[in-house]
Amino acid sequence: MSTDCKKWLGKKLERLQGSEIYNAEKTNAEIAQQYGLKVSDIVKLNYNENLYSPREKVVPLLKEVAEECDFRIYPQNEEARLKEKISEYMQVPAECIAMGNSSDEVMERVIRIFLEKGEAAVTFAPTFSVFKYCVKYHGVEYVQVPLLDDFGIDMAGMRKAFTPNTRLLYLCSPNNPTAGQLRSREVEALIEEFSGIVLVDEAYGEYADYSVVPLIKKYENLIVLRTFSKAFSLAGLRLGYAVACPVLAKVLDKSPAPYPVNVVSLSMGRKMLENIGLMRESVGALKAERGKLINALNEIKGIGAFDSKANFVLFNTTKPYAEVYEVALSQGLVIKKLGKLLKYENCLRTTVGLPEMNAKLLKALCEYMGD
Ligand SMILES: Cc1ncc(COP(=O)(O)O)c(C=O)c1O
Repeated sequence: MSTDCKKWLGKKLERLQGSEIYNAEKTNAEIAQQYGLKVSDIVKLNYNENLYSPREKVVPLLKEVAEECDFRIYPQNEEARLKEKISEYMQVPAECIAMGNSSDEVMERVIRIFLEKGEAAVTFAPTFSVFKYCVKYHGVEYVQVPLLDDFGIDMAGMRKAFTPNTRLLYLCSPNNPTAGQLRSREVEALIEEFSGIVLVDEAYGEYADYSVVPLIKKYENLIVLRTFSKAFSLAGLRLGYAVACPVLAKVLDKSPAPYPVNVVSLSMGRKMLENIGLMRESVGALKAERGKLINALNEIKGIGAFDSKANFVLFNTTKPYAEVYEVALSQGLVIKKLGKLLKYENCLRTTVGLPEMNAKLLKALCEYMGD
């Protein structure tokens, strides 16, 4: 390597290695080893995955995909066929859809395409942390405005944070980790007023009361992110999309590389939409369990659980959150520790798991909080 190359690469690597990135949590195998448990005993409730679609119903669909696709050749019409189905599902023309390898990847693409150094992105706090990492990675200024104590948007605070350089507004709704959905009139007011792109993350849209997708007809600065990772139970296949007006969707969909999304994910996304009853059943069952989980958490002394419009629940404890987390973890119950959020000192988040998973968590919390 030439001296010049060494110098240049050294500087590049220093900057890249110094970037703050999302730290994935320990795997089930690592946790099992740490606590002397069996991997099969680990109850994973930290990533808001959806286990309500039974494997015995989903695996046959994947087998059909294996039979139908020829993986030896590059994608043919798999993306067009999926877009047709999403178009029916979302009630928007296919030209309003841009596909990606997960909604995180589409989010990163929005930042990369629309923002430049010197510009700023604004959102509220707390919210989904991947947005912050993506913004900072691209050298864009990151601005956060605290939510109100009822988890509503501080509209005046938001407006104050907007500067002529603020060109991206990220609104996660339902919001991770607070689990509530933003008030629709406030979201629309912000889309109307904001002088830049408004990115509404509806990763949990299927569990919520409303979607802003119909607003793409009215606002040319709106992009809505959706995913197959949550209600459709395909987190491992990494499939997501954006819905926006045709011009924005076309720009977002255009990739310099010819075939960004693989045929298995594209075809499985289509199969899940062709069998939409599976998703609807899983969402119905999860919502019923969610209500029971919130009530049961609230019955435990020292725990306050918040309402949820997503597939997870946020709760606050009177005992230190790090201890609660550790006690659960040592029993193989993996939840998310969050700490102080707004005025709530000890916050933790749990996915709405299958009933037997939630029962184990409730038992552990009950025993510990009752001490
Ligand atoms: C708000 C939000 N957006 C996006 C994602 C990630 O979605 P995907 O799997 O499509 O990248 C998550 C995952 O937890 C999330 O909470």
